[in-house]
Amino acid sequence: MVKNKRDIVTCEYGDILAENIVDNVGQLLIKESTIIDKNIKMKLMEMGVQYIYVYKNQESEKEEKIMKINDIYEKDRVIIKKTFERLSQGKMLETREANEISDGLFEKIVNEPFINNYLTDLYERDSYTYIHSLNVGYYCMVLGKYLKFSHYNMGEIIKAGVLHDIGKIKIPLKLLNKKEKLSKEEFEIIKLHPLLGYDIVKNADSISEDVKLAVLMHHEKENGSGYPNGLKGQDIPLYAKICAIADIYDALTTNRAYKKKITPTHAFKILRSMAGDHLNVELLLIFLENAYRCYF
Ligand SMILES: [Fe+2]
Repeated sequence: MVKNKRDIVTCEYGDILAENIVDNVGQLLIKESTIIDKNIKMKLMEMGVQYIYVYKNQESEKEEKIMKINDIYEKDRVIIKKTFERLSQGKMLETREANEISDGLFEKIVNEPFINNYLTDLYERDSYTYIHSLNVGYYCMVLGKYLKFSHYNMGEIIKAGVLHDIGKIKIPLKLLNKKEKLSKEEFEIIKLHPLLGYDIVKNADSISEDVKLAVLMHHEKENGSGYPNGLKGQDIPLYAKICAIADIYDALTTNRAYKKKITPTHAFKILRSMAGDHLNVELLLIFLENAYRCYF
């Protein structure tokens, strides 16, 4: 069989490993001929492996093609790709684009009174966070779609994404928009926004506890080095983990006063390097596999 070099994200389940995977002292970690499945793929990503050599398994390729069709409809794939490209070019999310893949749910959620009032205030005050919040709501919704969320959960994850940075309305604008590197003290102030946000949403009857916790925990990291509480992976709720991926992807692909945006494919690579320590590997794998299918 022919050996093919494959990016770890685009290798397919059923591919057969064509080489031993060893650590930096030469100790065998995964044997040649191991069949790639979800767990092996996650393990390789966690280990920071970028490329592997595989033998192509034609039978499993056929099965995988069928699975792909079931995974996500072609129509949605095309719309998502178009939107990813538009947003990464700095264009505003159009409600129509978000509605097309959610049967109008996106518009319904952003028009709920609590969210609508927040977005209206934000539009006046801080145009970057306004655009970022809508984008993160959209990317969260896309990930919810990949995860086959129910209608209810889709609504919840859109809310979590749109509201995740609500605490920033309490942070001075001069800090949020500062071009120069933030001092340690200034960064500590920015880091208060999840707690400030939770304080704003905690008494809102129209917002569920799960969404409130996503606001509070979207900067926690899998290895416990995040903030505000330094929670580890098993203690971080699903919506917060999804918001973290969507948040970082949008921040990387958008221009800021202090940094230039990068392309979606470059952002996918950076996200991949954050697997395990920062971001949840399983969710990241689902996001990247589907996003890669849009691009390649
Ligand atoms: Fe944030």
